[in-house]
Amino acid sequence: MSSNTSTKLAGKTAIVSGSGRGIGREIALKFAAEGARVVVNDLDPEPAEQTVADIKAAGGEAVACVGSVTDEDFADRFVNTALETFGGLDIIVNNAGYTWDSVIQKMTDEQWDAILDVHLKAPFRILRAAQPHISRMAKAEKARGESVHRKVVNISSGAGLKGNVGQANYSSAKAAIVGLTKTLAKEWGRYNVNVNAVAYGLIRTRLTEAPAGGEASIDIQGRKLPVGVNPDLLAQLERGIPLGRAGTPEEAAGAVYMFCLPEANYVSGQVITCGGGY
Ligand SMILES: NC(=O)c1ccc[n+]([C@@H]2O[C@H](COP(=O)([O-])OP(=O)(O)OC[C@H]3O[C@@H](n4cnc5c(N)ncnc54)[C@H](O)[C@@H]3O)[C@@H](O)[C@H]2O)c1
Repeated sequence: MSSNTSTKLAGKTAIVSGSGRGIGREIALKFAAEGARVVVNDLDPEPAEQTVADIKAAGGEAVACVGSVTDEDFADRFVNTALETFGGLDIIVNNAGYTWDSVIQKMTDEQWDAILDVHLKAPFRILRAAQPHISRMAKAEKARGESVHRKVVNISSGAGLKGNVGQANYSSAKAAIVGLTKTLAKEWGRYNVNVNAVAYGLIRTRLTEAPAGGEASIDIQGRKLPVGVNPDLLAQLERGIPLGRAGTPEEAAGAVYMFCLPEANYVSGQVITCGGGY
């Protein structure tokens, strides 16, 4: 990007799911600011197009691939958008998702399946769809004597590492994504792919923020789902964080970016907690 002096990701193509809002949006903006071309995805077209417009306005390159990561044909569409638009695929960030909480006795099969689908099955499908292309590109690079590292960053959560009341579905999915991360780090080492995960603590996004005295909700494909941590509880949680506050989406994006730096080319199969010391 012309306005930026740092171009650590110049020439790289990244795909970032759920990058219309929150943490994913900041990851997409950061990548683009560092010179990467970005495929922006979101379930909702408007925020996806907004992220693309903001990247372009700052002099970067981006394209939208709108749709749910849980759609049968999505993974191929996502991967092919990167290959067809930008001619490459170097960074994959599995970030899209939401919460649909209940204590276990109230949790329906639908609730369980929806959360496992978005946080676990969708990343699995995206990575499976990417494999033939990554293998092909890695073989060609090896034949030319080039060493190119690619990066996968999967998004987990403190709930996945430690559990959280009301989140049997979400914590199970976020624990399982760690297993997927560690397995792919082993399977894809031979392609020079670093596969890592970031587990977030408390980050201020629409998933955690609730209006004072009110209840927040999000619309996921016509389902109105309650989200947001009650402000008193949020303040209490923040007091328990060594840095004394929730993180910003920009700070959250920084942890993903760290894994994507060339300086991290020998770091793989790791889970980093981005939680202000919590
Ligand atoms: N905010 C936190 O404190 C926190 C903590 C731990 C983990 N996380 C994880 O971080 C990731 C990002 O969350 P966030 O806090 O930025 O939330 P957010 O709601 O601000 O952003 C998530 C984006 O993903 C999109 N999305 C949801 N379902 C999708 C689907 N099926 N297909 C495509 N896009 C979809 C949403 O439309 C939204 O724009 C999620 O995986 C979340 O579980 C967040």
